[in-house]
Amino acid sequence: MTTSDTSSTASSAAVEPFDTVDLIRVKRRGDALETPHIDWLIDAYTRGYVADEQMAALTMAIFLNGMERREIRDMTLAMIRSGETMDFTGLGKTTVDKHSTGGVGDKITLPLAPLVASFGVAVPQLSGRGLGHTGGTLDKLESIPGWQASISNERMREIMADSGAVVCAAGSGLAPADGKLYALRDITGTVEAIPLIASSIMSKKIAEGTAALVLDVKFGSGAFIQDIEQSRLLAQTMVDLGKDAGVATTALLTDMNVPLGLTIGNALEVRESVETLAGGGPSDIRELTVALAREMLTLAGQPDADVEAALDDGRAMDAWKTMIRAQGGDPDAALPTARETHVVTAARSGFVTDQQALPFGIGAWRLGAGRARKQDPVQAAAGIELHAKLGDAVAEGQPLFTLHADEPARFERALEAVEGAWTIGDERVERGPLVAGRVS
Ligand code: URA
Repeated sequence: MTTSDTSSTASSAAVEPFDTVDLIRVKRRGDALETPHIDWLIDAYTRGYVADEQMAALTMAIFLNGMERREIRDMTLAMIRSGETMDFTGLGKTTVDKHSTGGVGDKITLPLAPLVASFGVAVPQLSGRGLGHTGGTLDKLESIPGWQASISNERMREIMADSGAVVCAAGSGLAPADGKLYALRDITGTVEAIPLIASSIMSKKIAEGTAALVLDVKFGSGAFIQDIEQSRLLAQTMVDLGKDAGVATTALLTDMNVPLGLTIGNALEVRESVETLAGGGPSDIRELTVALAREMLTLAGQPDADVEAALDDGRAMDAWKTMIRAQGGDPDAALPTARETHVVTAARSGFVTDQQALPFGIGAWRLGAGRARKQDPVQAAAGIELHAKLGDAVAEGQPLFTLHADEPARFERALEAVEGAWTIGDERVERGPLVAGRVS
């Protein structure tokens, strides 16, 4: 396995230290790769020496046979080294970030970042755009007139030093090996492997240079890991990676069986976030925002911060307006509204006894809120507004949810997606806790 590779091509003058096929065989047998193997593999894949089909075989072997903690750490560090890293020391403020593994109606970053910033903490949120049924934070914020996702590293630092919260596009320079590997995993059925998810997420977060990190690890039908015990394992793996890299990290395990809040879709979610920042908003949005803010502020050395008061007395709203203006947006401008709506009503009286997140996410996506291909645009006003949540009493004929779209032709396929996704029964069902666990 450590013999020199003599198959170098005419274009690659350097002699490679390992043979990729030997390393694939190690993982195929279920053995551990050594640190130099992992360092070389990630570097050689990033520069195009290891081929996609070889990496696909390796990731499938990892998917089936797992990785040890040391291997996952090596993989994370190698992916960080594949690109640039950011450094916020000398900013004069503690930095704390939050990462969510993604879900339907998950707009928590929007109220959370300014809320935490209102306590004098800097929040560097490098975010992405949505693909498939989970929405992207940047897509949501781009529905605010004038708001710009792309800013330079210098401007990012300036805003963090000044007002604190920045939500902006992650440049391709951070952990480029992960960008390449994630795209490959996406088309080879190897996304849902805990070592690969954990190293992927944590390589980007550690490269971003945050001092502390709170993870919102979802479980349930609308999350990409359904089982709570598997999400706990993912959370523990990521918390360990963070700590090993000197980033203070904790995680909450949160329920994603039903949509978060009452809106799914970009401008609709911004509206709901602003309601939360004004001290209102749906109770689950407020509860999760408060729980994550407490975790973040505890890591920032403010365990007693009264986050509820900051939502109720306008401090978080002031920080939101500052954050939006700093990136060219007008926080007071009207948000886009859809040209067409379609209301679905309750066929009978009773209680909402089932409401599945995933079909509602797919429905909103089909209305135009999400994209099927990276290059597709999203429609800012498209989405779904729920009028009743799991456990609520409803009367026959009462609106259950409204579809919003710019083109009425989209309603039929969205209705197909949500068909059977809710039930009205006779007995009120109790929801499980939204925050079901904590990992530190
Ligand atoms: N998000 C990531 O960034 N990487 C994964 O592997 C899964 C979700």
